[in-house]
Amino acid sequence: MIRTKILGLGSHVPDRVVTNEEIPYLDEQHVRQDTIQTETNDAWIQQRTGIKARRYVPNDGSVATSDLAALAAKKAIADAGIEPSDIDCIILGTLSPDFHFPGTAVLVQKKLGIDRTSCACFDIRQQCSAFVYGMQMADAFVRTGMYKRILLIGAELHSHSLDFTTRGRDVMVLFGDGAGAMVLGPSESDDPRTGIVYTSAHADGTGAMDLYLKIFEIQKLPYVGYNAKSREENEIIYPKMDGKRVFLNAVRGMVMSTQAALAKTGLSWDDIQWFVPHQANLRINEKVVEVAKIPPEKVLNTIEFYGNTTAATVPLTIDYWRQQGKVKRGDRILSSVFGSGFTWGAAIFTF
Ligand code: ACO
Repeated sequence: MIRTKILGLGSHVPDRVVTNEEIPYLDEQHVRQDTIQTETNDAWIQQRTGIKARRYVPNDGSVATSDLAALAAKKAIADAGIEPSDIDCIILGTLSPDFHFPGTAVLVQKKLGIDRTSCACFDIRQQCSAFVYGMQMADAFVRTGMYKRILLIGAELHSHSLDFTTRGRDVMVLFGDGAGAMVLGPSESDDPRTGIVYTSAHADGTGAMDLYLKIFEIQKLPYVGYNAKSREENEIIYPKMDGKRVFLNAVRGMVMSTQAALAKTGLSWDDIQWFVPHQANLRINEKVVEVAKIPPEKVLNTIEFYGNTTAATVPLTIDYWRQQGKVKRGDRILSSVFGSGFTWGAAIFTF
């Protein structure tokens, strides 16, 4: 039976570091002003979220989500020791696509110079859960022999769609820009404890309006409401969140999917080197670790300095800690995620 393994990994974050000290002074163009634009502060942000800084793309309009995705993808392809032309499928998770349509995967295909006809392109919309959802799709494609070199990307450009006023502070302080990518393909090994060992994907649409960004409502005519003269009426273009419901459901979903992953594979924490949770909020991850009784020394986070990069957090975190010398080839990783939808899931894989 064909099994799937990870052939390569890469990530990219923009150079600009935005600290909690700077955040209150930024205007909507990300330019530091002398006076406070948003009533927030480092102590509040760190106490509730653990975040100290995040990365933003340049504010000159030169970078799109597909650019971040392509930069991470190039590194993953090089890490796999293959050429872009070897990729026969792209699965891209993002909640910040370049356009409403076409999807961003085809834009990445073009930027990587991948052959015009022999590569399938999928955009998937599971927000913070997209990387685990995409891994499940990629695993199924490889196992059935449908595709042999799959580029799985999570990429987000959040900083352009955040509300830099006190109205949007609960969401604005959480998010950063970044991308991560993996190349997946068939494994030579039959060992069920290597490669992609396990994936699960869940959803509960009753939570859909607890975390959303509308931009438009297709049932309305005109379907995009926008009044350039009134910032208040532009509320539809910013994310909305019920933070407490997201917090509770995230802990529940990540704990349940972590415990199910271990129960269904028969693995224990002795068999797992690293726990890589989605990076929404350090306090969510601390609660998951406590409730699911995860050995704290096995937990990898990057939220303190990258913020929440949604679909990118899992590959970004693994790649960061690989570069620090912690994660090594062959290590077994358990990842659990939760996001808007609600969507959640878990994966166990050897890197
Ligand atoms: N700075 C200062 N004060 C703030 C900020 C801010 N950035 N944001 C909200 N506040 C204020 C509120 O206005 C409120 O003030 P009030 O008491 O005068 O009315 C006070 O802080 C408390 O607000 P709450 O919303 O009750 O704060 P809470 O303790 O719930 O913390 C938070 C908010 C951090 C967002 C929390 O609910 C949370 O972490 N939820 C999870 C959300 C999350 O992680 N989302 C990430 C995206 S989803 C995902 O990736 C899974």
